Formats: sequence, structure tokens, C-alpha cells
Amino acid sequence: MRLRPGLLSAVVTLALLGCERKQAPAPSPTPAPAAPAPAQSATGPLLIGTVGALTGPEAHFGSESRNGAQLAVEEANAAGGIQGRQLVLRSYDSQSKPEEAANAMTRLVNQDRALFVVGENQSSLSLAMAPAAAKGEVPMIAPSSTNPRVTAEGGPYVFRVCFTDTFQGQLLARYARETLKAERVAMLVDQKSDYAVGLAKVFATRFGALGGKIVAEEAYAKGDTDFRAQLTRAKAARPEVLFIPGYYSDVGPMARQARELGMRLTLLGGDGWDSGDRLGQLGGSAVEGALYSTHFAPDNPGGRVQGFIARYKARFGNVPDALGALGYDAARVGIDALRRSSGVGGPALREQVARTRDFDGITGKITLGPERDAVKPAIIVKLVKGQPVFAAEVSP
Ligand code: PHE
Repeated sequence: MRLRPGLLSAVVTLALLGCERKQAPAPSPTPAPAAPAPAQSATGPLLIGTVGALTGPEAHFGSESRNGAQLAVEEANAAGGIQGRQLVLRSYDSQSKPEEAANAMTRLVNQDRALFVVGENQSSLSLAMAPAAAKGEVPMIAPSSTNPRVTAEGGPYVFRVCFTDTFQGQLLARYARETLKAERVAMLVDQKSDYAVGLAKVFATRFGALGGKIVAEEAYAKGDTDFRAQLTRAKAARPEVLFIPGYYSDVGPMARQARELGMRLTLLGGDGWDSGDRLGQLGGSAVEGALYSTHFAPDNPGGRVQGFIARYKARFGNVPDALGALGYDAARVGIDALRRSSGVGGPALREQVARTRDFDGITGKITLGPERDAVKPAIIVKLVKGQPVFAAEVSP
């Protein structure tokens, strides 16, 4: 594992503006099947879409990546668009629900004639959108869905600009065993999330192979708020680390309850914890010192990252988190491909997205291999006074 020192973030002023936004259609019992979209007119604006949670407990996931995509669109337009044509972004709210995400994708494909779609953040929701992408031959670029099944089962029209949980689960196991020197780990796993279940599995297998022991594996389901029974059982197994492969929205209350029960162990998680300073706000002192792997550290001193943070903050008023950076990268990968396909969508655009090589993203170099996944380093951050601070970089 390579280490580099963390530094402090820079940055600027604020301005707020909304981007074009539409509500997702109400779920209909028989959603219209997606059909291949006829090409958009050869002169009008080029429409691209985003689908993400804009309301509900994970609202910030979708807003951040939509803002990232919006910034990419505005920068591309300021640079002259594509062959003189402007790009327009249309965003839908998945409400963190698979059926809403699927409906939104169908609408983007059939009605809006989107050329490509950035979305979803959550693996279970990207999986729900994939059939409409395949049927409509509209490339979908997931910013942050890390479960391996997203692209493997999603088919040739589904890409992602992030690493997968096969990598993330293994590096977390190694970090727990070799850096934290843990021998005993307890896990608390959201059974309704493909992401959480998959990440837990990879972690457990690798941690075991490294000589560690999973001393407790407790289940919960999205929406639960009381985790005391599971935590009490986990505590009895005397773990040194509590691994929670879920989303930050669950981790806050969980961490508070764990501390109330007198658990003083290290809290460890994956990229689902990435939420800027929100986890710090939800968990307070209970999450101080907690560690998680992610795609982007805002205190990365590199000029590229700091320049992006300054532009994003000037536009939206806050320092972006991993989802803002990944939304920006996903949109730019799509726009770059669209430029190479001369603004033509469908199979021609898919072909160009698949040819993405060494694309200079904010979250690292992006090359889309035959699996349509990016292979990139992960960052481990530590919550210090509620803020994510760079702790380590791990290369594949
Ligand atoms: N990786 C998570 C998933 O696949 C989504 C996520 C990524 C959430 C990064 C927050 C930050 O479901």
C-alpha cells in the first residue's frame, strides 16, 4: 500500500443555480417496454440524462452526481458543445427505489431520447435500469455502482467509471488484517442491498484467507433504525473491528448505538459511507476515527482535484464528495465519446464509450476494459473532527 500525506482543501465562493430537473414518473403496474430510440435531430441540442436519488435518505447521492454531470455539461457547452450543438441535461429522481429508477430510464430512452445516461449510484438501482439501456441501445455510465453484477449482468450498454467491490472488498480485508492488525471482525449487513451483501462476501472470504476470523455476521434491512439487538450479539463475540458495508445513512445511528453499548472498536466501511461531512454530522463523536475506502479525497493536494473542487464549489456552494467527482467523470467520459461519434447515439456511441482509454478523470485515470469497468486505485479516508481526511491510497 502506498501512502501519501493528506493536506488541506483549498477553495472559493458560492453560487447556486438549479439545473433542468424532472420528477420521475409514478410507477405504473405495466411499464412500457423500452424500444430503440430514433436518433435525435441532427441540429438540435443533444440530450443526456441522469438518474439518482434526489429525495429520501440517500438524496444527496443523486444530487451530488447530478451536479457533477451538470458541471461537465456546462463546461462542454462553454467550450463550444459538440459540433456547435449544445448539450442539455435532464435529471430524474429514483427516490432510491428500483422501480422508480427503471421507470426513469425507460422514460429517458423512449420519451426524452437521451443519448446516454449517467446513473445510478446504488448498485441495486443500476441493475434495475440496465434492461432499458440494453433494449433501447442507450449507453448507461454508472458513476459509483461497484457491485460486479452491474456490468456483468447489465450487458454491453452498461459501463462504470469506478472500481468494483471485488477489488474494494479485498483491499478492505487487507487493510483490516495488515494495517489495523485485526484478528476478529464483526459485520452488520443490509440484506436488501446488492452492494452490501456483495461487499460483505468478498471481505469475509479475503479476511479469512489472511488468517482473520469473522466472529459475527448480523443482518438488517434498509429502513431499520434500531440495531441494538444485532450490536449486542456482535459485542458478545469480542470483535476488534466492526465492518459495515452499507450506506452512510444507516451508519450514523448504528455507530451511536454501538458506542452507547460500550463498543470501543474501530468502525470500517466501504464507499457507501462517502457523503462529505454528512456521516460526521449523523454520527458525531461516535464516528470519529472511523475509516472507509472510497474514490476521491477532497484534501488531495493535486491541482486537478483542487481545481475541480473550486469550480464545483463556485457553482453549487459545497465541496463535492466522491459522488460529485464520479458524476463529473461519468458525464465527461460520455461527452468525450459523443464527440468521437460526432453526436450520434446508439451502437456508434456505445462503441466509442467502450474505447475510453487513459481518460484523465478527477477520480483517476479511466480505461474501460472489455468488462466495461474502470480499474483504478482506491483511497482510504479517516473521519477526523467529522471530516474525511486522506489516510492511504491502494492500487489494484
Ligand atoms: N458503491 C455503492 C453501490 O454500489 C454506491 C456509492 C458509491 C455510494 C460511492 C456512495 C458513494 O451501491
